[in-house]
Amino acid sequence: MDGTPDERGILHFLLTGKKEHYLIEVGEGILFDEDESSLLARFQQEGIDRYALITDHNVKREWGDAFSKFLIRQGLEVSVLSIEPGEHSKTLQTAEKLANQLAEHHCSRDSMIIGLGGGVVGDLAGFVASSYMRGIPYIHAPTSLLAQVDSSIGGKTGVNLEAGKNLFGSFHQPHAVLTDISTLTTLPEKEIRNGLAELVKYGMMLDQELFEYLERTAKTRHAEVFTEWVSRGITAKGTIVKQDESEQGIRAVLNYGHTIGHAIEADSGFQIPHGSAIAIGMVYEGMIAVKQGILNECLWKRQNELIAKIGLPLVYLNEPRHMLARMRRDKKNKGGDIHIVLPKSIGAAHQVNKEYTSPVSEELILECLQTPINK
Ligand SMILES: NC(=O)c1ccc[n+]([C@@H]2O[C@H](COP(=O)([O-])OP(=O)(O)OC[C@H]3O[C@@H](n4cnc5c(N)ncnc54)[C@H](O)[C@@H]3O)[C@@H](O)[C@H]2O)c1
Ligand SMILES: [Zn+2]
Repeated sequence: MDGTPDERGILHFLLTGKKEHYLIEVGEGILFDEDESSLLARFQQEGIDRYALITDHNVKREWGDAFSKFLIRQGLEVSVLSIEPGEHSKTLQTAEKLANQLAEHHCSRDSMIIGLGGGVVGDLAGFVASSYMRGIPYIHAPTSLLAQVDSSIGGKTGVNLEAGKNLFGSFHQPHAVLTDISTLTTLPEKEIRNGLAELVKYGMMLDQELFEYLERTAKTRHAEVFTEWVSRGITAKGTIVKQDESEQGIRAVLNYGHTIGHAIEADSGFQIPHGSAIAIGMVYEGMIAVKQGILNECLWKRQNELIAKIGLPLVYLNEPRHMLARMRRDKKNKGGDIHIVLPKSIGAAHQVNKEYTSPVSEELILECLQTPINK
């Protein structure tokens, strides 16, 4: 999983699962790779020459129009389907609309869907690919940092229901992931920070070197650094999901910061972005680990300094009892207790007898939520 570069400097990560395996390719400008060994050229040689490019209006403007022209120049047939940007588009209605458009464009099982965009496009396009004609081939082309290091890896697809986020979907692995680092040059700064929050999580739970690299590069924005962040993010998440494709055990570590983070997102009426919410979630969940004697306080402070350096918030002014009520509904809970994944060090998750979640008393959660954080 460590990204062997080929002779042209493109990094290759092979994700092997129980049933399928697929390649993640990472590089600058690889969407527009004309080489005959490029991923799309190889699919073309296998006879796939009809593509449906699913994207959103922002990404279409920045990258999608040029990419579809490029595909046409390569002799491929391309239909471009673009959705409104934003989480509110991740619905069954949008999925149905996209499926109808695929039918209008005569897409069949010989066609390939490419999801070009952030996590919203990826989750939707993957979901549509998993269901249209009972499943057609699919390529992720993630363009946000979050999508490159998180949502394009692991095969989870789906849409939101009124009852909650991501409640309707399936596990469906893509044929390949095409991660073009250059797309990050047009990504708004707040979206970069969103992705960095997930990278801090990987650093804390899995990869001390990544954590230290983030400390050195938190404010840097250039391709070499983006490539290192993305490679290490893919390795961290890829290593976990290949051990636990269906979310039974170790995959829980990817939820660090998310138990309290999800409660913050919901409590704020989704005004606080996901990355900010989990950054604050890591501050409080880290504090729980300190108070339980699992994590050294100095390491918790170091985590918080990194979060602040990135420009993510540390504090959410909340009504702790409302937050607790939301946390009681978390899907990791067992037997009435609130279960949280906790770090034991920088780069290591706390684990007892193969269990990665720990029961935490409501009193301790309330105490932490009421403790002021020094910025
Ligand atoms: N499937 C999974 O395993 C998984 C994991 C984590 C998150 N997710 C999902 O991912 C979604 C969040 O993803 P996201 O943060 O990428 O949000 P997003 O897809 O809404 O993208 C964020 C914003 O950035 C814009 N954008 C994306 N790439 C751009 C680029 N290169 N240049 C300019 N603008 C660009 C988008 O148009 C959008 O406005 C959520 O729906 C979440 O549930 C899924
Ligand atoms: Zn997350």
